[in-house]
Order: sequence, then C-alpha cells, then structure tokens
Amino acid sequence: MTAATLTDAGGPSAGPPQAGPRPPGGQAAVSGGRGAPERPSAGPPQAGPRPPGGQAAVFGGRGLSVRLPLFAAPMFLVSGPELVVAACKAGIVGAFPTPNARPIEVLDDWMRRITDGLARARDEQPAHTLGPWCANLVTHRSNERLPDDLKLVARYQPPVVVTALGSPKPAIEVVHGYGGQVFADVTTIALARKAVEAGADGLACVCAGAGGHTGQINPFAFVSAVREFFSGTIVVGGGISDGWGLAGALACGADYVYMGTRFIATTESMAKPEYKQMLVDSNVEDLIVSAGLTGTPASWLKPSLRANGLDPDNLPDTPQRNYNSNQNLASKRWMDVWAAGQGVGAIREVEPVAVVVDRIEREFNAARARLGAWAPAAASSAATTTASTRPSTAA
Ligand SMILES: Cc1cc2nc3c(=O)[nH]c(=O)nc-3n(C[C@H](O)[C@H](O)[C@H](O)COP(=O)(O)O)c2cc1C
Repeated sequence: MTAATLTDAGGPSAGPPQAGPRPPGGQAAVSGGRGAPERPSAGPPQAGPRPPGGQAAVFGGRGLSVRLPLFAAPMFLVSGPELVVAACKAGIVGAFPTPNARPIEVLDDWMRRITDGLARARDEQPAHTLGPWCANLVTHRSNERLPDDLKLVARYQPPVVVTALGSPKPAIEVVHGYGGQVFADVTTIALARKAVEAGADGLACVCAGAGGHTGQINPFAFVSAVREFFSGTIVVGGGISDGWGLAGALACGADYVYMGTRFIATTESMAKPEYKQMLVDSNVEDLIVSAGLTGTPASWLKPSLRANGLDPDNLPDTPQRNYNSNQNLASKRWMDVWAAGQGVGAIREVEPVAVVVDRIEREFNAARARLGAWAPAAASSAATTTASTRPSTAA
C-alpha cells in the first residue's frame, strides 16, 4: 500500500505527521519486501498506487469518502442505528446486521433513522467527512426474511452491503441496481473464491482472533492468498483494535479494516453495560473459541460462559445452525453469552465512538510515520528508537 493510497483515505484531517527527512531510497526500502515485483500473479495493482478518488470509487462512485479506511463492523445485538450514525459521523463506515432489527418493521424504522440522521449531519456540517453506512445481510438458506430485507435495502440504498453466512449472489442484482457495492464476509480461501465467482465487489476476510464467528487464518496469510486471485476491495478483520494494526493491515495489502470488538464498549453500542465492563476487565486469555453455542466457531468471553452456568472447558456439542430472522430474538444464546476478539486487551474504558476513532487515527498516523522512517542502513537504530516510543496505551 503506498503513501498515495493512504493519503486518499486520509481525508482532510488525517494528514500524517511528517516522518522527517528520509534518506534516498528509504521509501523503496520500506516497501521493497512487499512491492509489486514480489506479487507477479496478483493481478491489477490493488496493493499498489491507486488514482486519486479511489476510495470514493470503492463505494459505488456516490461521492462518499472516509477519514480512515475502517469499518465499525456489524455485530449481532450490538450494532444499531446510534452506533452506525456515530461511526459515519466519525468518518468511518458504520455497519449493522439486519437481524438485529426484528420484526421487519423495526428494520424499516432503523434504516429510516440512519438515512435521516446522516442527511441531517450532512446538512449541519457539509464539509465534514461522513462515512458511508452499511447493512449486513445473512444470506444463509435458513434466513426466511432475506427477501423482505432486500426490499428495504432497495428502498434505503445503503452504499455498502456485506453478506454473511451464505453467498453474496442474492444481494448483487438489487445492490448494483442502485450503484451500491456488495462485499462478502468470508473465513476461508475457498469461500473467498466462491464469493468472487458470484460477483462480489469486495471481501471481508475475517481472520483468526476475530470476535463473534471467527476465522482461523492469520490475516497476513489471508490477504496474501486472496491477492493472488482477487483485485477488488479487501477488508480484513480479526483481533485488530488500534491504529497500529490498521496500518499493518493496509501495509500487507488490505484496503480496509473491520473492527468489531473495539466498538462494543462504546457509549453508542447496544451492548449491556455489564458486557461493556467485561470487555474493559478482560484480556486475550479470557477468550475461548467454540462451535458449541451456535454451530459455527465463535470467540466467547469465558467469564460470560461461567456466568451462564457453562463450563468453558466442557461446552455443548455443536448444535444445528439457524439464522432465521423471523424468529424471536429471545431464543438466542448471544443475549447473555458474550463474544469478543483478541483485540479485547486494547479496551480500557467505555467511550464515545468519536473518541475511539480519534485515538485510532493518532495511532494510525504514528504507525505510518514509523513505517516511513524505516530504512535499511538505519534499521536497527530506527527499530530501537521507534519501538521504544510506541506507547503501551495510546494517548
Ligand atoms: C459480538 C459480535 C457479534 C458479531 N455479529 C456479527 C454479525 O451479526 N454479522 C457479521 O457478519 N459479523 C458479526 N461479527 C463479526 C464482526 O463483524 C467482525 O468480523 C469481527 O468483530 C472482527 O473481529 P474483531 O472483533 O476482533 O474486531 C460479530 C462480532 C462480534 C464481536
């Protein structure tokens, strides 16, 4: 990923701190190990220079742009209209899963509130970067409500739709019909290939360490493998909770990052206060991955399993998967058993989304400066200096 691409994504307020004079060849050295020559079969130069305006083009040419290449990822029972609007106002992509809104009339209401809220924000601050909103649809065959969700998608026209737990195909015609983009949530290379064959514009590659339904592939390996056959947009997620990880993901060839866990403990999320506090109190060792609760491997907080009478070391057998949004929410385990990803340790307090995004931006810019300052001759001293200046908690 080049400086040009990062600058595109940065928006007016995201200017990088200058890394200072750089020795000749320094930039080449930074990208040298991962540049285009290393990826002869990677197709069009997705990880290379992109023309100005590339980010807006990613989102359907609708004139939308982002301040940071980041999604507040869709989360079951956590993401609602307040979180989505707050994320968009903070200049990132605000996403929510449509099954959170039940029955279908509630989805209608949520989509209206989101579009009205964003229109108001645009009127109030026309110069402010407003991120696009995103609806996450469950395309698993057990979801009988999908056709109704798609009618509302056609009416409210979210610029981005991410499909999960099934093929992106059912959404493509509708979303392309109004100029939107369809991304497919995938956890394996095989699913990524299928989604590309089905016509997805982008892939949300959910990797090892993710909260909720997790993948098992390392993000660096996942992005590299997908870049071998896909030149579209790659979103990568899983255990990334700060701007350092955001920069790392872009450096390895992704276009955007999905952060879910990071946004659960925000003022605007729908998570219960006890859940938010458990995130503040937990770290990566408090997690366990199991398919025993929903039928799909997911990363759970052990304290919440114990609080519900479940032994993390002896979880139930894998149940049958059921993602029918016409079913009552009360029957779902996720209400009281809580999920988190490996980035949980970065959460120190419950804060508004705007504060979280400001911090991520500072970390991201510091990470960009750190990369920009690297050069072979000075590698060992630069590494020593910058490693020691990376704070344990970003200010
Ligand atoms: C509590 C929770 C609920 C989630 N629910 C959904 C969901 O409904 N649909 C979906 O596509 N992904 C869901 N995810 C996955 C996120 O969209 C995203 O892939 C993941 O959170 C990224 O990893 P991270 O949590 O480590 O940042 C969920 C994640 C969490 C933590």
